[in-house]
Formats: sequence, structure tokens, C-alpha cells
Amino acid sequence: MCGIIGIVSKNEVVNRLIDGLARLEYRGYDSAGIATINSSEIVYSKSTGKLVSLKNKIKENPIDGHVGIGHTRWATHGEPIEINAHPHVTKNVAVVHNGIIENFAEFKDELLEKGIIFNSQTDTEVIARLIEEKISKEKCGPLEAVRLTIEKLRGSFALCFIFKGFEDLIVVTRRGSPLALGFGDRENFVSSDALSLSIFSKKICYLEEGDLATLTSDEVKIYDSFGNSVFRDTQILYTDPINLSKGQYKHFMEKEIFEQPEVISQVLGYYLDAFEGTLSLPSLPQSTEIKRIILVGCGTAFYSCLAAKYWFEGLSGIPTHAELASEFRYRSPVICKGDLLIFVSQSGETADTIGALRFAKKYTKNILSVVNVEQSSIARESNWVFPTKAGPEIGVASTKAFICQLIVLKILNIKFASDLSKISAKHRSNLLNGLLELPRLYAEILSQNENIKQLCKKFIGSNSVLYLGRDVLYPIALEGALKLKEISYLHAEGYASGELKHGPIALIDKSMPLVALNPWSKVFEKTLSNLEEVKARRGKIILFTDKKGRELSKDLTKSIFQLPSCSEFLTPILYSLPLQLIAYYTALDKGTDVDQPRNLAKSVTVE
Ligand code: F6R
Repeated sequence: MCGIIGIVSKNEVVNRLIDGLARLEYRGYDSAGIATINSSEIVYSKSTGKLVSLKNKIKENPIDGHVGIGHTRWATHGEPIEINAHPHVTKNVAVVHNGIIENFAEFKDELLEKGIIFNSQTDTEVIARLIEEKISKEKCGPLEAVRLTIEKLRGSFALCFIFKGFEDLIVVTRRGSPLALGFGDRENFVSSDALSLSIFSKKICYLEEGDLATLTSDEVKIYDSFGNSVFRDTQILYTDPINLSKGQYKHFMEKEIFEQPEVISQVLGYYLDAFEGTLSLPSLPQSTEIKRIILVGCGTAFYSCLAAKYWFEGLSGIPTHAELASEFRYRSPVICKGDLLIFVSQSGETADTIGALRFAKKYTKNILSVVNVEQSSIARESNWVFPTKAGPEIGVASTKAFICQLIVLKILNIKFASDLSKISAKHRSNLLNGLLELPRLYAEILSQNENIKQLCKKFIGSNSVLYLGRDVLYPIALEGALKLKEISYLHAEGYASGELKHGPIALIDKSMPLVALNPWSKVFEKTLSNLEEVKARRGKIILFTDKKGRELSKDLTKSIFQLPSCSEFLTPILYSLPLQLIAYYTALDKGTDVDQPRNLAKSVTVE
């Protein structure tokens, strides 16, 4: 993964490269670096840790130039130490890379045999060394050197290069990883993501697979993988630049949790006409032609797929599968006529999900995506797009984007069920009205955040937490456990309540906290029995339930948080919120880096 940026201009670029990197830090934040050309020579600065370390280093030892490239890293090959930070620089070239070169080892061996000395453990340095050979030994020009080198590479890459002696040139290329170009007034830009360019330019274009481009301050030339000069459609970015302000909040995650009532209203407003009680949806396939739905995603997005599986089968009666993107494409799944593939992703750039989408495209055109970043690769490669409208999500742990995914999938569910006459007009209107209650219910729960904070004290001294849910609250238990692991580094596992007795119950003792989701429902009593089994083994139960559930569980535990009563149809969306707060307050207590937890990145652009 990693974020890359380049600027070629008539003016100084270093401060702007840093501003651009700040908007790319979600892609990785274990080290960062910048290279420019000054008096024809390559100069660079790199630092481990967050971008702020690089910024401070450059403040102390300034570098400048009118052309430059920058990188923020999420380590793949080689530890996150300074020598492995990008740019990788040789005598004549500096390169930044997003992706993985799968066959780097064979080239490295050849180069080592020739006596070339490597400074880093990265796959990327091999690219710099190969290009150096082309320039210094074979006397190739920059573009030719890049073209001949990438022909040999296997894997995925987005690459930006600058060259000694070339003060007005960046060469870029991509395969597998995205690159967007931005067009300015006597300056041009390149970045892993168009949104980070929006602070510099509104006019952008995306490079296609295999494209190569040269950028000078006055001109951009694009070539396809065969070397033909090509045009790529430009578009105007209508989105506001990413707002990097936390406002009154300590963390982006806190802000993103607390702004959910507003964000939910936003997504509902996009799809529903509250006054008329009607849906206004983007185009989508005929419900009657859908014989099966396959939902695909990773991590949190996969859990929204899993929740939707329960919904699509339960309400619409359409056979549905939820698939992990990283498994889907490699296990020869059967895709039939009449299948609708739904890809769910916040970033729209997750390599596993893109890989699964491209695999599915070989078999069907029925590709719909539910994405938050509307300019993303997944959105651009889908035939139908349902945006989640959550706004930029900066905190690495997904919160509001997950909730908006659930809402959009729920809306699709109602649409299919209604088209297939599985629900009456009245039922449909009740369901839509139910959704409109969500902002109020969210605000109600958020106003009790202090009570949830108190419940987190139960985790003190524990090494592990179990999360239990049954039926459609099972995916929510999985998501709650993931959230806790990610940001508090406390081990947590989610289980379907009925599964506890098949193994995990062996873990229960008096030091084991167990978070249970059990509002009154058709499976309430079954889960209550499972929780009694936990109590009998002296597990510490923290129960999330509603009024009726509380009355029936009063002998079970004293640690109960009561949520507003609502229809079963809304519980997954409602019960996700206290679990987000639990993860947040636990992490706060442990003093971890909530917005940028260790080892993670917001957008996982490698397999
Ligand atoms: C968890 C989290 C990740 C992502 C996953 C997929 O909080 O954010 O598990 O959900 O990496 O990312 P997207 O949704 O961007 O495809």
C-alpha cells in the first residue's frame, strides 16, 4: 500500500508535496519521504514514523525544487526503517512506488552478481537499480528506461520517477495500482488518489492499466502499454478537498462516530424522499432477473455483506452468499447467469476487492458496487454504483462508512423485496419510515456515551474479550470484535451465540469479559440460554439489550446497557454504535494511536 504524489511546476513544490502526503497518509504511515531536483541533482529527505517527523526534518534541513515526488509508506518488503523508506535513489533516478513487485528477487540476484550494492530490503530499490543500468550503461532516456524496465516486472505498481539533470520532468506508470493526474496552470500533478489532488486541481484524469505518462510543467503526454500516444478522459472533481480538521473532537474516529446522526440523514436523504415515502435509486438490474446475489468485501465491509446476506434471504427471498474478497477469486467460485455481484468497499481501492471484481467481470456484467469514494477504481469499474455518502472517513477504523454500507444494503433489500412482491406496500412504507428513525435513535444512544465509557472498565486487566450475537447480530458481534482489536490491540473474537458451546466456552472464566447483543427478538431466549451458560462459568457479561430484554435478563448481569426499542430490522444498525464507542473508549484508556493504529492503513492496496 502506500501513497505517492508528484508535482512539476514553475514554483517550489516541497510544501505542497507535504500537504498532498497529509491527505494520503491514510494509505500508510510508517515512514515518509520526498525527493526533488535541485541544480540538476537529486536531493531527498526521508524519515520513519508519521509525516510530521519528515516535516520537522525538512524544517531543520530544507530541500527545495520545482519538481518532486513524495511517498507515505505501509511496509511490505523490509521493516519500517529509514533505509526502506521511499524515495529510493540511485545516481540518476529517484522512485516512489505503491504496490508489490513479485519477481524482484530474481533481478536482485542478477544485480548483486554484477556487484551492485543495495541500500534497502525493498522490492522498489530493484526498480531504481534496473533503471539506473538502463540510463548509465545503455544510455537510455528517462521514458525509454522506464518503459524497458517495467516490461520485465510482475506484480502491481504505481510508480513516479524523477531524474538527475531533468528539472521539469516526472515519468509515471501504473499496473494494478491506481494513479490520477491533475492538470494545473503551468504545473501538473500525479497522485495515488484523486481526492488528494483536489487541493491543487479540480481537473483530473485516471491512467489506465499499463499506461505510461510524462509530466512537465506545461504538458502531459500519456502512452498506452503498446507505446501509442493516447488521451484519457478528463473530469472535473466536484468533491470538496478532504477536510483534515477534527473540530471539537480529539480523534477523527470520535468525530466520525458522533457525526453519524447527520451522516445517516445524509445517506437517507440521498435515497429516500421522506415526504413522499418513495425511493429514488440509481439505475440497477431488474429485480426479477436476479436469481442469486453474491456480496464481496474485506474486513468491516465483509461484515456488512454478511449482515446483508441475512436481509436479502430473509426479506427478499433471494439466495445470497457473502464472500471474503481475498478468498473469492482464488477458489474458482461458480458465477452463473442471473447472479448479481455486489462489491462493498469504503475506499473503493482495496486490492483484494478490486481483484475479485475483475475476476467476476470475466463471467458477468452484473457488477454493482456499494462504495464511499465515488471516484474510486471499484466505482469506475462497476456497472452500477450505489454511493454510501458517508463523507471522507479518515480514522483508520471504519465507523460511519460501515453504518452507511448497512443502510444502502438495507435500501437495496427493501427495493428487491418490494419488486418481487415479498412485502406489501404498507410493509415497505413501514420499513422506510423505520430507517428514518435512525438519526434520532443514534443521537439518543450517543447522549449516553458516558454510561458506555463506564462499561469499558470491565475490560481492565483482561487479555481477551468475546463478542456474541445471534442471527443478524452475529455479523455485528464480529465487527465489534474487529473494532476492539484494531484500535485497542486487545484480543477479541466474535461468535454466533449458538457456537459458544462448540468450543469457545472453554475460554470462559471469571477474568473473561463477554459482550452480548441480545435485544428482544425471535432468538432472544436461545441467546439468553447461551448467556446463562456463560454465567454458570463465571464469565463477566456486558449485555446490550432493549427494555423488554433488560427485564428478562435482570438476573443475568448487572452490566447492562439499554438501547431504544426498535424493530428487528434496525437492530444491526443500532447495536453497531455502542460497540464502536466501546472500542474507542477502550483504546483511549490504553493510550493507543486511535486514528492511525499500528501496522494498519486505511486503504489496503496490496494483496
Ligand atoms: C476495519 C477496516 C477494514 C476495512 C477493509 C476493507 O475498521 O476499516 O477492515 O473495512 O480493509 O476496506 P474497504 O472498505 O476500503 O474496501
